[in-house]
Amino acid sequence: MEIKFMWAPNMSVNDEIIDAQHKELLNQINTLLDVVFNEKDISIIKETVDFLEKYIHGHLEYEEEYMERHLYPELSHHKEIHDKFNQRYTEFKKSLEISGPTKEMFSEVETFLGNWWIHHIGHEDRKYAEFIKENE
Ligand SMILES: [Fe+2]
Ligand SMILES: [Fe+2]
Repeated sequence: MEIKFMWAPNMSVNDEIIDAQHKELLNQINTLLDVVFNEKDISIIKETVDFLEKYIHGHLEYEEEYMERHLYPELSHHKEIHDKFNQRYTEFKKSLEISGPTKEMFSEVETFLGNWWIHHIGHEDRKYAEFIKENE
């Protein structure tokens, strides 16, 4: 399957660690997309979903700490967006358990996970990057 979600240099937040996390995150979403599309074994899909969940939690936590360290004034708003994402991810996991991998689920991974992250990295995360660049 083609690589669907790709990090691009214009998505950089000027921090090597966070950029690396964003790249890895998009990689893993591509993997999940591939697994949901091709894998008949539900346990492998669940493993991938769980792995991605842990990775996402680690990233969001790191990023929130980073924004706090740099005194980003929109931190609480940004955290709200992260929290909403986490809630939706939990719902996504539940529906996977209930209905298994379906075609709808595949497009959900694509739109909810992939497009959400591309947008979030390219817009919301860029906002703290801009703030830090201007203020430090
Ligand atoms: Fe991020
Ligand atoms: Fe973020």
